Amino acid sequence: MKLVVAISGASGAPYAKRLLDFLAAHGPAAGVSADLVFTQTGKQVWKQEIGAEPSYPFRVWKNQDFTAPFASGSALYDGMVVVPCSAGALARIAYGLSVDLVGRAADVMLKERRRLVLVLRETPISLVHARAMTQVIEAGAFVMPASPSFYSGPKTIDALVDTVVARVLDRLGLPNDLMKRWDGLASERWDTRAAAPAVSGPRAPPTPPLAPGQAHPPAPALAEPPEDEP
Ligand SMILES: Cc1cc2nc3c(=O)[nH]c(=O)nc-3n(C[C@H](O)[C@H](O)[C@H](O)COP(=O)(O)O)c2cc1C
Repeated sequence: MKLVVAISGASGAPYAKRLLDFLAAHGPAAGVSADLVFTQTGKQVWKQEIGAEPSYPFRVWKNQDFTAPFASGSALYDGMVVVPCSAGALARIAYGLSVDLVGRAADVMLKERRRLVLVLRETPISLVHARAMTQVIEAGAFVMPASPSFYSGPKTIDALVDTVVARVLDRLGLPNDLMKRWDGLASERWDTRAAAPAVSGPRAPPTPPLAPGQAHPPAPALAEPPEDEP
């Protein structure tokens, strides 16, 4: 299997690092090769969140080098992950803007109907992001927001990161045991404490939609939470 791993300038370099660590350790035995490309901001965020630039046994491409094999469908790459995927990269991919290698490679994946996984990291999600997500999903991509899960009981940040990376590897069809799989509530790992009491108090009324051109109203002040019963 030939993969492209693209790292763009969203928060979440640890997800990329974990994926690359996994591919470096297990890829060769599984017949998986990877090509790596950073956006300019992807490098900056990696430095901010992890430190020194990585050294991996992968071919690394400049983001403006369109001579990379995976810039052409004829190279028959099997899939691509953008991890983390910035809102900007999502938008470029959604609208086919092949202005950099990441955008072009993703465009190739979509046109060739290959697997494209976008580990989007942005919050809150605007309508622009939501529409871009719809567009790429309709075109065949998987949008896998970088939202870790807690049901497997992760105790460390690394374990939390793995809850995202495991699901990315699943999408790529790469067997892994990075996280404990959900096996029903009977499994001894799952916490059987009584469910937390429901939050009481009045619900906020639903926010009415904005009219065209209408500015966002200021956020309402938060009410003091009700005091717990003694
Ligand atoms: C430290 C840092 C963290 C950022 N985090 C995010 C983020 O989580 N999501 C996002 O969409 N953009 C984020 N940005 C902004 C993007 O880097 C910026 O929009 C950039 O143009 C994305 O470029 P790229 O898509 O070519 O990587 C961050 C920037 C910096 C410097």
